Amino acid sequence: MSASAAARREIKSLREQIRYHNYRYHALDDPEIPDAEYDRMMRRLQALEREHPELITDDSPTQRVGDAPVETFGTVQHEVPMLSLDNAFGEEELRDFHRRVADRLELELEADELSYAAEPKLDGAAVSLLYEDGRLVRGATRGDGTTGEDITHNVRTIEAIPLRLIGSGYPATLEVRGEVFMPKAGFEAYNEKAAAAGEKTFVNPRNAAAGSLRQLDPQLTAARPLDMYAYSVGRIDGGDLPQTHSEVLERLQNWGLKVCPERRVVSGVEGCLDFYRDIGDKRDGLPYEIDGVVYKVDDLQQQRELGFVSRAPRWAIAHKFPAQEELTTVEGVEFQVGRTGALTPVARLKPVFVGGVTVSNATLHNIDELHRKDVRVGDTVTIRRAGDVIPEVVGVIRSRRPKGTRKVKLPERCPVCDSAVAREGDEAVARCTGGLYCSAQRAEALKHFVSRRAMDIEGLGSKIIEQLVSADRIHTPADIFTLTREEVAEMERMGEKSADNLVAAIEASRTTSLERFLFALGIREVGESTAAALAAYFGKLDLIMSATENELVAVPDVGPIVASRIRSFFGEKHNRDVIQALRDQGVSWDESEPQRSPADGKLSGKTFVLTGTLPNMTRDEAKKKIQAQGGKVTGSVSSKTSFVVYGDKAGSKLSKAQNLGVETIDEAGLDQLLNAPASEES
Ligand code: IVH
Repeated sequence: MSASAAARREIKSLREQIRYHNYRYHALDDPEIPDAEYDRMMRRLQALEREHPELITDDSPTQRVGDAPVETFGTVQHEVPMLSLDNAFGEEELRDFHRRVADRLELELEADELSYAAEPKLDGAAVSLLYEDGRLVRGATRGDGTTGEDITHNVRTIEAIPLRLIGSGYPATLEVRGEVFMPKAGFEAYNEKAAAAGEKTFVNPRNAAAGSLRQLDPQLTAARPLDMYAYSVGRIDGGDLPQTHSEVLERLQNWGLKVCPERRVVSGVEGCLDFYRDIGDKRDGLPYEIDGVVYKVDDLQQQRELGFVSRAPRWAIAHKFPAQEELTTVEGVEFQVGRTGALTPVARLKPVFVGGVTVSNATLHNIDELHRKDVRVGDTVTIRRAGDVIPEVVGVIRSRRPKGTRKVKLPERCPVCDSAVAREGDEAVARCTGGLYCSAQRAEALKHFVSRRAMDIEGLGSKIIEQLVSADRIHTPADIFTLTREEVAEMERMGEKSADNLVAAIEASRTTSLERFLFALGIREVGESTAAALAAYFGKLDLIMSATENELVAVPDVGPIVASRIRSFFGEKHNRDVIQALRDQGVSWDESEPQRSPADGKLSGKTFVLTGTLPNMTRDEAKKKIQAQGGKVTGSVSSKTSFVVYGDKAGSKLSKAQNLGVETIDEAGLDQLLNAPASEES
């Protein structure tokens, strides 16, 4: 066998295998082999085709994005018109439809037994795919139903669409029709990326799908996460199909096309309604957008008897879900403060019925989103409420903006507690700096205050804190220390024994350490290790409270952002009041003389990353030991990391260290470093 005959055979075999695995992956949603193996076959095929360009064919799985951009779209005549569907907006309209169908078919008595093929109504763009002898030769949009646009170069880039059918028995000419759509996840990811890059975002997945199909450059279409489900056939020549719609779809699937898995054959109106409710319940969880369901008389002979009127068949109807988008006007824009202090802009709306409920508020997510959408008081906006998701403002109808509107600005003070609002660099989230003082944040701040690594008050769990906060019994952490045993014992889910324990835990926590206390205050950006560094450096709380930003940045672990956070925290009088109240309640720690020089232990200047389980110490203990000797412990490995300390079940951090050439040591290695005599060079 000549070299090229061998290549020819291998190419043929690879193409067949790849087509089969495409079918498993896309049509059946049941891949047989790992992605890596698929990729390997694909790369091998590409390599062979590079060596033997004369063997490349249009329907090779490698030839999806090869087409050059077109200048305009050609037109395509649909020999079998691409129809649209009539809508039923409620049960009554559905019953009317069913009665009309039964009457025409003279079925009256057995109308209940009339079979419908029920499917979701996908929210994308209709396409026609023409297969000649199993090869995809043309793709077209619906257009006006008679004349569409030739989008062959674009449909070829969609992996769910086979370039060549598999199996056998398909008609020589087979026109498949279906919906190209952008799955929700792909839509969101695409928009997020586009927004980050300052590019135009899509309003909804339907526009995204339609817009993507109408690109002149197939490279652009290829970069969009598109998918497709087949839902009917058009022209057929040189072969037969089964006698029901549901069996036809089954066949299409066997030939490698994707069909929607949520389809069912049902009986009569009741069967249709059951399906409608089931899909309605599932709707939010489906990976693609739908706007209703479609019922089609399943028997193709009955379909032919029924025929169609103008643009729509008599044998099918779309049963729509309540609209998820409506227009209304903005009456105000306010800022809500969340449990972590984040300020969320909220649009107050003229009440509007959307997604099955009346909506009068919609979120704008964050300040960037507010500015990007530029929502103003008086604007007409599109509101979207999908399922249980909180209603959101999709966008402004600019052409309806009244005169004299003004841009909404981020408030400088918290609308709840009047503390300063801070926003870090280009971070999207603006936050109230009030922390404990801000009633919106109180419960979260208290949970942090009592947590194990902070004040460590065991038994003061989330539920109890929420009870105490909502009963207005606790405003600041100082109030914790005024709780009496009687009060505690009276609380829900509190036995005598747990009350005793809690009171004892509160008592014990009065004696703490400066680093715990600092960490417990919940100053933004001040985590455990920063708190420890501050405590070691200054030794006394008053020195930290009065330190300038310049003094603060001298502390290892403290950069300018952290320093400014610390400054603004202690700059607020209400925070100083809380600290005084805690001291008055007897909360105390040992203070020491300020060190005022960076920790100069023998590990100073060295950065460590810990990964996996160490045999004899917890990661926390290891961290403390390293820090005690001036070393730094961080969470992620970079080329600047000095050592990665690994234990059992070490993960990607270890392999990353190895890739970067960072020194890796185990616990014994760490012990050596910790116990080695200090040397001049290190
Ligand atoms: S059947 C004659 N089935 O809805 C039947 N259409 O308003 C025509 N659509 O242009 C189509 N999901 O793009 C059918 N399961 C489905 C559908 C579906 C979405 C779209 C299709 C069509 C429009 C009709």
